[in-house]
Amino acid sequence: MAKSPARFVCQSCGAVTSKWSGRCDACGEWNCIVEETPLAAGPGKTALGAARGRQVPLTDLATRETPPPRSRSGLDELDRVLGGGLVPASAILVGGDPGIGKSTLLLQAAAHFARAGLPVIYVSGEEASAQVRMRAQRLGLDQAPVRLASETNLRDNLTTLEAERPGLAIIDSIQTMWADQVDSAPGSVSQVRAAAHELTVFAKRRGVSVIMVGHVTKEGQIAGPRVVEHMVDTVLYFEGERGHQFRILRAVKNRFGPADEIGVFEMTGAGLAQVTNPSALFLSERGQPAPGSVVFAGIEGTRPVLCEFQALVAPSSLSQPRRTVVGWDGGRLSMILAVLEARCGIPFAGLDVFLNVAGGMKITEPAADLAVAAALLSAREDAALPPETVVFGEISLSGALRPVSQTENRLKEAQKLGFTSAILPAGGKTVAGGGMTLKPLDDLAALVGDVFGA
Ligand code: TYD
Ligand code: MG
Repeated sequence: MAKSPARFVCQSCGAVTSKWSGRCDACGEWNCIVEETPLAAGPGKTALGAARGRQVPLTDLATRETPPPRSRSGLDELDRVLGGGLVPASAILVGGDPGIGKSTLLLQAAAHFARAGLPVIYVSGEEASAQVRMRAQRLGLDQAPVRLASETNLRDNLTTLEAERPGLAIIDSIQTMWADQVDSAPGSVSQVRAAAHELTVFAKRRGVSVIMVGHVTKEGQIAGPRVVEHMVDTVLYFEGERGHQFRILRAVKNRFGPADEIGVFEMTGAGLAQVTNPSALFLSERGQPAPGSVVFAGIEGTRPVLCEFQALVAPSSLSQPRRTVVGWDGGRLSMILAVLEARCGIPFAGLDVFLNVAGGMKITEPAADLAVAAALLSAREDAALPPETVVFGEISLSGALRPVSQTENRLKEAQKLGFTSAILPAGGKTVAGGGMTLKPLDDLAALVGDVFGA
């Protein structure tokens, strides 16, 4: 039989090539290509197997009783991000920077699920059981009926899970798992892929939900990210700035619920506390109305969340002025600067532009366009927006404003937090302000003229 050809795998993005090179063509990363031997029982080795795969008529499935219900942990912020609780036999990936609080979150989740009656095994490949117990003590959870293991051999872990059949297994982390049939170091793409695959298959076959923790590399990708992300049912990211105590658990993929749903937590001395009113939290640092500060009424998943955009515009000493963005998309900022210049005649050439979302929040909604434009104009003109005003709306390249979804929910949340007026796109269906003063605008030029009088 012919020897299987050498296979080189990028440890950063998982791309496979037949030749070694110093730089990965797919992701551009340097020194990340490593030779790996293919999985022992890889696909395509034989055309036909001795045993048949199982199949059932679709109509038989329809007559089966309803699937077992979701388990709720009682941690509402977590249950909501999961789409209303944990679906039995689901595979979930929780990614995040090292030290952001993944182990803390999952230990708390384990204790909650266990107390709610779901048997839980917490497998820590990073810490000894005694260390996990110490952490549990600190969190006041050491009496919770959670079983601990600190095994890194995948086969041994699967044997344990097979024997115990818990409702939920937590694997912290997938990078420490070591599949002995794969001939490469733990943490390499092949190992991560093999471990995630075996655990996902086990979850489906045995009805055990599996939550895998994955560390994110500095480029924001989990080692072997694409391979793991597409294997699992749900991908959650645990985000936040180290300097802030807020942590956001975000569903980026969910087969059993809405994506983009967020859960907000606060890191305290005694673990993570749920934040039930994130808008109040994100706006808590806001002082008097100041130039460059604009409150955006956003929607995260199914929930309205208010947060503050802060802009600073200052003369630049550089030939190429700075464009620095934290918490929003840099490309989108360039687009809005270009639209302001081309459609409203307001140039930003020769000016440094800094844009920040307060509280370490990350915004991805295009509905924030108008809030960003307002913050930029307000900073540039050194004029604060009218007090107690929220802003939202999408900007098109022509400078026209497009209506956005869930206008009423946004307004309701703003009103709840004491805001009295809103700047929003005209057009679309008319909405009841519910006591709010609405200022509908047709295009960006109207914002410049009506609001700033420029
Ligand atoms: P950890 O859950 O170990 O992070 P990860 O598993 O994502 O690497 O969290 C580590 C950080 O959380 C650490 O810097 C200390 C902080 N922390 C608290 O502030 N309060 C606590 O109660 C705990 C357990 C941790
Ligand atoms: Mg950890």
